[in-house]
Amino acid sequence: MTKNRFREEFARALATAFQQAYADKFESMGVKEVFDAEFIYDNLEKPKDARMGRFAFPVFRFSKLLGAKPPEIAQRVADTASESISSYDGLAAVTSAGGFINAATDFAAEAGETLCEILKSKSAYGGSDRGNGRTVLVEYSSPNIAKPFGIGHLRTTILGNSLRRIFKKLGFDVIGVNYLGDWGTQFGKMIVAWRRWGGGARVADSHVTDLLELYVRFHEEAEKEDSLNDEARLAFKKLEEGDPETVKLWEQFRETSQAEFDRVYKLLGIEFDLVTGEAFLNDKMEPVIKRLEKAGLTSISEGALIVDLDDPHLPPCLLKKADGATLYATRDLAGLIYRWEKYKFEQSLYVVGTAQSDHFKQAFKVIGLLEDKEQVPPDERMIGRVKHIEFGWVRFGDQMLSTRRGNIIFLEDVINKAVDLAREKIAEKNPDLADRDETALMIGVGAVLYSQFSVRRQKDVNFDWDEVLSFEGETGPYLQYTHARLCSLLRNYPAEVSAEFDQSLLDKEEERRVVELLADFPAAVEDAARSYDPNVIAAHLIRLAGAFNRVYQRKDDKGRIDKIISDDANLSAARIALVESVRTVIYEGLSLLGIQAPQEM
Ligand code: ARG
Repeated sequence: MTKNRFREEFARALATAFQQAYADKFESMGVKEVFDAEFIYDNLEKPKDARMGRFAFPVFRFSKLLGAKPPEIAQRVADTASESISSYDGLAAVTSAGGFINAATDFAAEAGETLCEILKSKSAYGGSDRGNGRTVLVEYSSPNIAKPFGIGHLRTTILGNSLRRIFKKLGFDVIGVNYLGDWGTQFGKMIVAWRRWGGGARVADSHVTDLLELYVRFHEEAEKEDSLNDEARLAFKKLEEGDPETVKLWEQFRETSQAEFDRVYKLLGIEFDLVTGEAFLNDKMEPVIKRLEKAGLTSISEGALIVDLDDPHLPPCLLKKADGATLYATRDLAGLIYRWEKYKFEQSLYVVGTAQSDHFKQAFKVIGLLEDKEQVPPDERMIGRVKHIEFGWVRFGDQMLSTRRGNIIFLEDVINKAVDLAREKIAEKNPDLADRDETALMIGVGAVLYSQFSVRRQKDVNFDWDEVLSFEGETGPYLQYTHARLCSLLRNYPAEVSAEFDQSLLDKEEERRVVELLADFPAAVEDAARSYDPNVIAAHLIRLAGAFNRVYQRKDDKGRIDKIISDDANLSAARIALVESVRTVIYEGLSLLGIQAPQEM
């Protein structure tokens, strides 16, 4: 990963100072050093108060080991480090406060180096080659065919799309997978409903809403006429047996749905590297079942084939129903093994809602038991590499009712409404804007996308139209607006932006805050990958935009706005380098979230 040079210097200084200050202690323990610079680097924090410095190292946990109170340790080590501070390029001061050791950096140096790096590496800034081409699978979206693309699949779609981009940025070979729900007993129902009430139309001419109606009707009628359920089971059996006419009907359901999904993906800018589905695994389940049987993991319970998980919190995993039908879990087991054998991935992520948490626990547990039984060597095991990436619910207020059809909120309706609202907003704020429609699309879609990153992934999202589309506050449009404002400053700058500027001219407190956030962007990208949560990047961008807006609105001692572009050419050059750097990072950060940034809005 791209390491922050200043942070590294501080970590090195501390590692050495600890060793010097506690040499006798270490010696009596029979070791030379207890913590190295790398450990310190990874455990550095940000001081709560920016005036305390740039980095902080908490020493509380060493109190026992070193037999001293935390403030004593902090002070002793800080004093030792201060003595040799001149040998650490870029460190300005090392101080202690309570149980923390704080460092201040040489600000002009940090500003100069950070901005130069951004101006030179441009959109590559914040990336690394840490992944070294290793494979990460990210499965997301995965809607069910013959059903409308509802709001229930919004978050997985958007989160997964972003995780795909984040891991790519870190040098991984990422495969974004869409695993369609295209198999299962519900298709027996659909087929029966279509034949009975489809009115002889061609599926290809129908819309998913027609399919939904039929599905709803099936359930209503089956309440009265139970034999319909038997009929559906029979139809599904035929489908499984490959009956040509039944298969043809199923294929058409799939196409109709795919057309609708593709429209939504296009609107949202969602990309996949592989579109597959449950049906693909049909012929891959039997070998897996055989393997589980051979490993002695299966048993029969009430006629069904199960794997008992030997876990008081998990029910057994059902492989086959008494009638021989396979299940959702059976297909996931086959999929886990298929993907592992095919891709030998570093990680395989399943971005699926919390509601399926037990399902994934069960599936992973079965694989774990199998690997144990088969005595698979540790580095050939997939367990530990597969992860269920859960997330909270999306909650809509009552305002959504107008777009509720049946009991489902259609994703396409949500997006279209957002774009319409954005268009109204533009008409009101900037009626002369050239690409009004295109910009409205970017803003409306950006608002919907951003809403899903506005809180930590495990938390529920409250979707409020006014909030989501606001140009202020923690929203997508706010970040887009900040980006457009930066672009406008750059358009007004009469010269070329250059990496040769006088860094000492960036000496305002407000500018310092911006530079720090720019310098910390690569770490935010890493953090987002580590926690599988693009919210880390979203929150970082909000802080950056806020910090920049304080630079933009800064007043001089006479109470006048201290302009970025002024008659002072050198000062303007330094400030515009900052502007272009912020623009680059906001643009790149938004693109990691899958959000486009207009130049004007
Ligand atoms: N199609 C499923 C649904 O809509 C989600 C699939 C999740 N992925 C998986 N490998 N099980 O609920």
